Amino acid sequence: MCKYSLYVAKKAIFVILLLQYNIVSSMENAKEILNWYILSGITDICSDEPFRVSLAEKSTISEPKNDTVSAIKAVDENGLTKRPAMTLLAQEGQAACLNAVELCQKAQTLDDLKALMEDFSGCSLKFSANSTVFGYGNPQAELMIIGEAPGADEDRMGEPFVGRSGKLLSKMLAAIGIEREDCYITNVLPWRPPGNRTPTDGEVAVCLPFLKRQIELVGPKIILLLGGSAANTLLNCSDSVSSLRGKFVDYTTENGTIIPTLTSYHPAFLLRSAAQKAKAWSDFLRLQRKLEDI
Ligand code: URA
Repeated sequence: MCKYSLYVAKKAIFVILLLQYNIVSSMENAKEILNWYILSGITDICSDEPFRVSLAEKSTISEPKNDTVSAIKAVDENGLTKRPAMTLLAQEGQAACLNAVELCQKAQTLDDLKALMEDFSGCSLKFSANSTVFGYGNPQAELMIIGEAPGADEDRMGEPFVGRSGKLLSKMLAAIGIEREDCYITNVLPWRPPGNRTPTDGEVAVCLPFLKRQIELVGPKIILLLGGSAANTLLNCSDSVSSLRGKFVDYTTENGTIIPTLTSYHPAFLLRSAAQKAKAWSDFLRLQRKLEDI
């Protein structure tokens, strides 16, 4: 049976089960529930492999430090609880970021960092994802490639850029004489946002220390940033990808090492906008020349 018929069959079984067990009263309601799941990013109704999700075990966001807690509870001279300068949610986010920075400093190898990331529970995306997608490739690569976040295929397989975008990326690299295995490929986020939605600033901020530490541990000569999200995050700017692409911009690591970065279009964008492929090709030729000069 082809993949699409299997998907339709799974959908039909799901709707029948909802009706059979009186979870919904009509076909219309069943369709609404199904659409709601799809909008929430649940693209697989049932997987071929069983897996266990234990939210209770995983959702332990790091406790805010004691001094932050007392600041929240402080009362004024009238005995009224002072309004916190930051909401609890923002404080939790800030505490998770600080926690991530501290953790990452402990990692002396990529394996250490991978283990710390898999244990980290300060980003809620982890709880809706199937895998923590860590970087892949040569740990001493001269070229590091950074995308935005895993998609459905990457989430299933636990490896970055293995879906349609990844296949296009591999072809573009091969055209300038580079094998996927020769580079180190990673993403700003190691967890897939539900339904591939745009990650929030908070999600990016809490994952950024892991990305920065990966860069330090690999120590590439050049970084290729794919798409506006990767470029804006690493270069800490809000310029459009069309104004950034094709230009070398230096990135400075926490320990002062300067690494040139080159921004280009994300392969997912190129799959939708074939007319932009010529510009991406000229970016890749610039990358090839720079790598030859090193
Ligand atoms: N898009 C990305 O940005 N990263 C991946 O790993 C896959 C698709």
